[in-house]
Amino acid sequence: YDDSSIQNKQNHVSIIAHRGASAYAPEHTIAAYELAKEMGSDYIEIDLQLTKDGHLVAMHDVTVNRTTNGFGFVKNLTLKDIKKLNAGSTFNKRYPDLAKPLYNKQKVPTIDEIFQHFGNDVHYYIETKSPQYGVGIEQKLFNKFKQYNIDTERVIVQSFSKKSLKTLHKLDSKLKLVQLIKYARHAKISAQQIQELKTYASGVGPNASSLNPTYIQHIRKHQLDVHPYTVNSKKEMKRLIDWGVTGMFTNTPDLLYRMLHN
Ligand code: G3P
Ligand code: CA
Repeated sequence: YDDSSIQNKQNHVSIIAHRGASAYAPEHTIAAYELAKEMGSDYIEIDLQLTKDGHLVAMHDVTVNRTTNGFGFVKNLTLKDIKKLNAGSTFNKRYPDLAKPLYNKQKVPTIDEIFQHFGNDVHYYIETKSPQYGVGIEQKLFNKFKQYNIDTERVIVQSFSKKSLKTLHKLDSKLKLVQLIKYARHAKISAQQIQELKTYASGVGPNASSLNPTYIQHIRKHQLDVHPYTVNSKKEMKRLIDWGVTGMFTNTPDLLYRMLHN
């Protein structure tokens, strides 16, 4: 029999809307997060950068150049500077078929605005980006959970930085943490690496292109989650579900929702 599909039937597969429903709306805007929620996503994925004056904003890149009508490094801009920018006009120009007047009104959101807007109505999957720039980003995030009464059982924090995750683990040992990994080729992990991971993380987030069933089964045997990024085609979604992943980052959460719920 096919062992991996049997395992798959026992798995819950989480739909993680990568930068919101970012195939259809400008990434990291309230509009993209709202759409992700409407499409039945389990988690809204948020990348965080720290501004010059210490605010946490939702932004993937270290600069505002690609996703807004402005220029410069986030770390060199104040929140006031960033709030002057349009976070949807570039998307509208780049994708005229998907353009909407609503998108033209989008600003770069702070984590405060996101938590105020969604509260505990959604689950959050937050990445501490560029922790080398954002000194103290972990403590700041932790303070925001408290300030806005966010139920941390509804939160996963992810990072490529082990140091950042270990800092978070020290702040709250119950917080679910996922170690992001980028494998150059075939994903592989040693028993020793898994043991170390288990001291602070509840799962791994590898690049989907590197995955193979052996790796996934190895991780799953240790009751760790496997959440690959970024999966946007039905064919790849199906293959990864068959291999036993427990969730995936996707720009097209509607496709994954239909696959899991039909
Ligand atoms: O966080 C998972 C995935 O988003 C990592 O890649 O570059 O899109 O943040 P990136
Ligand atoms: Ca990310």
